[in-house]
Amino acid sequence: MDLFRAVHDGRIKFLWVMATNPAVSMPDAGFVREALAKCPTVVVSDVMADTDTGSFAHIRLPALAWGEKDGTVTNSERVISRQRALFAAPGEARADWRIVCDVAGRLGHSASFDYNNAAGVFREYAGMTQLAADAGKILDLTNMQDCSDTEYDTMEPFQWGGHHPFTHGFPTENRRACIISVEPALKDRTQLTLNTGRYRDQWHTMTRTGLSKSLSQHRREPLLEICAEDAERLGLADGGLATVRSVHGESVFRVSISDAQEQGSVFAPIHFTDQTSGGGRTGMIVHPAADPVSGQPGFKNTAITVEPYHADWRGFLLSQTQIRPDCNYWASAKIAGGWLIELAGDGTIDLDALLPAGTRLEVTDRARGMIRITVAAADGGLAGALYVTRSGHLPERAWIERQFAAPDARTEELLAGRPATPQADNGKLVCVCHDVSEKTLRTAIDDGAGTLAKLCETTRAGTNCGSCRPILAQLLSQPASSEKETVV
Ligand code: FES
Repeated sequence: MDLFRAVHDGRIKFLWVMATNPAVSMPDAGFVREALAKCPTVVVSDVMADTDTGSFAHIRLPALAWGEKDGTVTNSERVISRQRALFAAPGEARADWRIVCDVAGRLGHSASFDYNNAAGVFREYAGMTQLAADAGKILDLTNMQDCSDTEYDTMEPFQWGGHHPFTHGFPTENRRACIISVEPALKDRTQLTLNTGRYRDQWHTMTRTGLSKSLSQHRREPLLEICAEDAERLGLADGGLATVRSVHGESVFRVSISDAQEQGSVFAPIHFTDQTSGGGRTGMIVHPAADPVSGQPGFKNTAITVEPYHADWRGFLLSQTQIRPDCNYWASAKIAGGWLIELAGDGTIDLDALLPAGTRLEVTDRARGMIRITVAAADGGLAGALYVTRSGHLPERAWIERQFAAPDARTEELLAGRPATPQADNGKLVCVCHDVSEKTLRTAIDDGAGTLAKLCETTRAGTNCGSCRPILAQLLSQPASSEKETVV
């Protein structure tokens, strides 16, 4: 935050952003955007063309993606591993260190940046850790400062500091951990505390993971998770919308009543950006106060107020192309064949701005304020399908979504919002890796898969990344299902 304050008041005039998306991820992101807009020169190195921060860039540099990088990576367990490129760099993309060296050379510092490869950069880094060792820190890689290119290339993963660095105490004068108690910021007791964090299947600002239709199945919108008691007190309905405000800004979220939240505390994800939502940017709300010792911003304790947002209309759009509608709330998620975009707004709907080009077929029920439109592309395929209601219900998304990717989708069924012949509903998807739904898991449990190991073995759920295992455990702890089949 200190850096962006310096940009904002003109002390920093040149900013080079690498491997991060601060226009979304920083607290008080409205202030950060003002700073970026004021900065005379912003350079953004990124692997994606469209990011919120990239829209402030005067110069864009094409960076490498994870699978194209060659170097080392250190995990939070202090293990340093060699990372070897899986793919050649596409187009003009280059390693960050090479770009930095070229810029340094143009500025007349080529002698100080004369690395030939990633090994050369690592050797300097390893030598530099002498500074940490001199300051009494555990990090010390100086024994690797002279490693050869071959030794670097064949490096096995290792944990710096040894396996048990804290056995003999912490690196403090008296070898004891220095634990600092902090006072939470005082707040009005009528307010709620906003905790922010990650979704199981997304990474930071979703610039890459948000392009995966599998990962997008887990959560498709920015949800405000809140306990039932607080939701009732505030008049919030599960699946409705809510406006969240702090002194720094406001955003709109989909309400999700959850027993994972305590009274007085709500949760919202950090992931959604201007590319993927028209409301749910959490960084707009989060306060910018940072811990005075570590500098870590307080992402998990912003005082907020929440109130229901009753939109005049709501709906969803399936579109081959990603669009950014101009309405009070929208959130887009990748699906097979395009995007599913949830919508809500006030006043009239500008259909021409919302719908892709093509031949439209429309069904309208003015009494219920219902509009359903399909749009045929020039090649005869489906370019889009829109479902809007002012007071009624919206059709099930899952079936419509499947039709959107199907070559033989029938327009009259799509306008009806359901298949001519009812189909089995498998419930929501739990294991994204192996495409296993809640219904399949419940059936397996009913049929005797009573332990986590047995359930994983029977259904394959939980046997790849393992992220879904807590949900499998939850299902196992619930009473046996009595409902064998539901239809839509
Ligand atoms: S989501 Fe990866 S194993 Fe289930």
